[in-house]
Amino acid sequence: MPLLLQHMVQHVTFPSGTVRYYFDSNLSQLRNLYDNTDVVFITDENVAACHPKVFGGQSPIVLPAGEEHKTLDNVGWLTNQLIQKGATRHSILIGVGGGMVTDITGFVASVYMRGVRFGFVPTTLLAMTDAAIGGKNGVNTGLYKNMIGTVRQPSFIYYDTTLLHTLPYTEWCNGFAEVIKYGCIFDAALLNELQMHDVAYYQNNATALNTLIEQCAAWKNKTIAEDEHEQGIRKLLNFGHTAGHAIEKLYGLAHGQAVAIGMVIACHLSEQETGLAPSVTAQIRTLLPQYGLPTSIAIHHQQVLEVLKSDKKRKNDQIDYILLTGKGQAVIKPLPLATIAHTLALYESPDSTRSH
Ligand SMILES: NC(=O)c1ccc[n+]([C@@H]2O[C@H](COP(=O)([O-])OP(=O)(O)OC[C@H]3O[C@@H](n4cnc5c(N)ncnc54)[C@H](O)[C@@H]3O)[C@@H](O)[C@H]2O)c1
Ligand SMILES: [Zn+2]
Repeated sequence: MPLLLQHMVQHVTFPSGTVRYYFDSNLSQLRNLYDNTDVVFITDENVAACHPKVFGGQSPIVLPAGEEHKTLDNVGWLTNQLIQKGATRHSILIGVGGGMVTDITGFVASVYMRGVRFGFVPTTLLAMTDAAIGGKNGVNTGLYKNMIGTVRQPSFIYYDTTLLHTLPYTEWCNGFAEVIKYGCIFDAALLNELQMHDVAYYQNNATALNTLIEQCAAWKNKTIAEDEHEQGIRKLLNFGHTAGHAIEKLYGLAHGQAVAIGMVIACHLSEQETGLAPSVTAQIRTLLPQYGLPTSIAIHHQQVLEVLKSDKKRKNDQIDYILLTGKGQAVIKPLPLATIAHTLALYESPDSTRSH
């Protein structure tokens, strides 16, 4: 390995494999990680247009952009592209993009020829802090998110935050929803730091941004090293995602926006169920708009409840909910649907009686 890279590589070991993390790196050195003859890049059309230099003269396989393309059909299409490019068992696939690209690349790499090596160059804040990390990969089927997938770790994740210069503002905000999530469940100091700044601060301060990304990656890595297959502590990462996913699906919100609202709902539930201090809820409610995120939406709470009933985490009439016990502290607690319904009813849209 070239000397220049050695100081910034961190090895993180999970039950299913070791991942090399190249934090705060420069794309000009990505080329040192692979052999030109064996690499195949997978990306989406936006990233291909914004960052053609990443591919070092190779022509990547380009997917259309957007969550709706994270499908089994595209796994088939990618497989054909790989065959046409002559990819072998010795090839390494490098997914360059947001979570859509990293999820589908990880999945294709897990099944192509019964598994080939893969690496990621995440290009969204969400992928840098969350989606690229942890080895979960997969695709959607119809309305069901991530229904087909595997748990398999990439060989490396390569970070160059200059890639984020072209990221639309709304995508920065989506990423910050996950960053705030780590603060809520694990790290009160992180929440305090976020309180002092805003999106523009991190956009203009590469050192602060790289530190923030490393902190989030460290929290996710620590969680997954303990519980790769989500039997226990990994579930905490779903904070804000239970109601959030339902709202995302029903009202067509971006993932980060829906998770932001889901986190506020979870805070309200926590006040009743764990005695969370209302001042913590208030602090999170103030922080979210600072990062371009909403704190509430008028819902039809019965509709949300119906979606929750189909949640993978439901057992009889209870759902394992992630609640806060304090700032930076979370627990998993089974909650009856009736309790959740009671809190959701506070968000009821005034026009729901007309449209029901
Ligand atoms: N595997 C996991 O553990 C995990 C965790 C969280 C989320 N996810 C998955 O991640 C996906 C969401 O990830 P995402 O928010 O990164 O979405 P995304 O990959 O769809 O990217 C969002 C948008 O930004 C564009 N884009 C990406 N990088 C860009 C750049 N540098 N400049 C300009 N435009 C750019 C994309 O083309 C896309 O239009 C979902 O599929 C979700 O299920 C997976
Ligand atoms: Zn999320």
